[in-house]
Amino acid sequence: MAADDLVELAKRRGFFFGSNGAYGGTAGFYTFGPQGAALKRNLEDAWRDRFTIREGNREIEAPTVMPEPVFEASGHLEGFDDMLVECGECGESHRADHLVEAVTEIEDAEALPGDEVEGLIADNEIACPSCGTPLAGESVEDFNLMFATDIGPGDAQPGYLRPETAQGIFVEFPRLKEYARGNLPFGITQIGAAYRNEISPRGGLLRLREFTQAELEQFIDPEADEPPLDRVRDVEVRLYPATEQEADDGEYVETTVGEAVDEGVIGSPWVGYYLGVAKEWYERVGVDLDRFRFRQHLAGERAHYAADCWDAESEVDGDWIEIAGFSYRSDYDLSKHGEHGDGAFTVFKRYDEPKTVERAAVDPDMSVLGPEFGGDAAAVAEALEALAERDPDAFDAETVSVDVNGETRDVDVDVAGFAIEETTESGEHITPHVVEPSFGVGRTVQTLLAHAYREDEVDGEARTYLSVEPEIAPQDAAVFPLVTNDDRLVDLADRVASDLRAAGLAVAYDDSGSIGRRYRRQDEVGTPFCVTVDRDGIEGDAPDTVTVRERDSAAQVRLPADELAAELAALRAG
Ligand code: GAP
Repeated sequence: MAADDLVELAKRRGFFFGSNGAYGGTAGFYTFGPQGAALKRNLEDAWRDRFTIREGNREIEAPTVMPEPVFEASGHLEGFDDMLVECGECGESHRADHLVEAVTEIEDAEALPGDEVEGLIADNEIACPSCGTPLAGESVEDFNLMFATDIGPGDAQPGYLRPETAQGIFVEFPRLKEYARGNLPFGITQIGAAYRNEISPRGGLLRLREFTQAELEQFIDPEADEPPLDRVRDVEVRLYPATEQEADDGEYVETTVGEAVDEGVIGSPWVGYYLGVAKEWYERVGVDLDRFRFRQHLAGERAHYAADCWDAESEVDGDWIEIAGFSYRSDYDLSKHGEHGDGAFTVFKRYDEPKTVERAAVDPDMSVLGPEFGGDAAAVAEALEALAERDPDAFDAETVSVDVNGETRDVDVDVAGFAIEETTESGEHITPHVVEPSFGVGRTVQTLLAHAYREDEVDGEARTYLSVEPEIAPQDAAVFPLVTNDDRLVDLADRVASDLRAAGLAVAYDDSGSIGRRYRRQDEVGTPFCVTVDRDGIEGDAPDTVTVRERDSAAQVRLPADELAAELAALRAG
């Protein structure tokens, strides 16, 4: 189905629609309707079950607004930009790199410098997609994607809506590591909103200005911690490594997670592990695996924090869509927050055996710092002590430089009263590395709808239906009384519906129109089971029974009403 048709269908059937329609609509913002909100919640629950509970990870919920220094440290203020070109004629803004990619062979224009992209726009006579005026001569600028805000009134503190949920995890690392009792590895998850002021939102839920991410930050000691790779070693994966993308006749590598890691196609065993877990999870929630692959980022494509990254991609209407990213973020984030923020963004790694080492030790009498340090003496001493712990070799020089209150202070090593001492140490402070599976929930919802859409014929009549997994379907079942003019039949239908709801199942009740029409309505939103109460169920040979129709096969069975709740709950759980 064409992408536009899917978005139209999603609106008609109550999955999602553009927000603020009564006020002309706001591009990049979507509201999930009754079916979509239920499906999205089920998807998030399935993610939480797999990536939080079953992995033994812990979940947090951090604020969506964060102060400016967080993003100075994370690099987003400096580097979280897209290339913008504004049409001088109609004033519309466009992603300059996307325009170039659409008309040239270049697949990764984002990696090019702005003036080169400007030149490509001119050389290829690229026109404004909105009004058709040639864009040659317009300048290409960096546009920061973060939404800015003020925190508090008056001399407000500048803040930003988080562009990724991850930062809420990184800044709380000093406390989160306490909850993990300082032991690596440990994983923290979060499902929540992220905000990016995208230049050209498009494609329904594909590129939004507010969207939901489900992220896992796995903190590891890269020298010691191994993932439980054996659990996913045999999982088959279709990989599209950077080297194959760069080759003229590049091909997929069809392999297993174990082989891909052993042969170095996937560089980090942790990334490999999570690709395997993710592949199984995508199968569980209903992604069509014939329309699914893992693609490695090309060098120029990686985010500022990523040392390596693989995307999970799904095919929708002929295009490959990035639905999740698996980044090796190394110690980038914790080191940056360690430099800029207060708090220990390290963990203490205990040695197997205590070691005797040489350390630069601070003279306990800090008065040796001369009068030139004035009121800063204590702060200088503290900074020196921290440096001695971090980098004792720095004291081999005649002077050492330390940052104090934003200023660099040079301290004569002799004056500071340092000595190299032999000490016995039981361990050292290390900055953990981070492996990050990061899922876009909306893009996965859109993929599931596209992959679940089916057309067939039942009893000679054409129908469309959504073959979504029972675990993910917005409703677990629908209950229909065959007629409404027989109290006994309506009473049994009411009782069945309330029993199912009491068992925790989401149930629609529909008593209007022909039974065939009611089945179609439920098929269109993917309800896996329709329960009909008919005359045979209240009289005759099989009292207190109902018929249950399965969506995809349209096959029906008769069941005792009392057994229905347990039966459907089991089917839902798979
Ligand atoms: N913490 C890592 C991170 O944010 P990302 O690749 O920028 O990485 C992760 O985003 C996922 O979030 C993407 O794979 C995509 O599914 C989703 N995503 C990113 N930007 C989006 C947008 N503007 N609209 C909808 N989903 C988006």
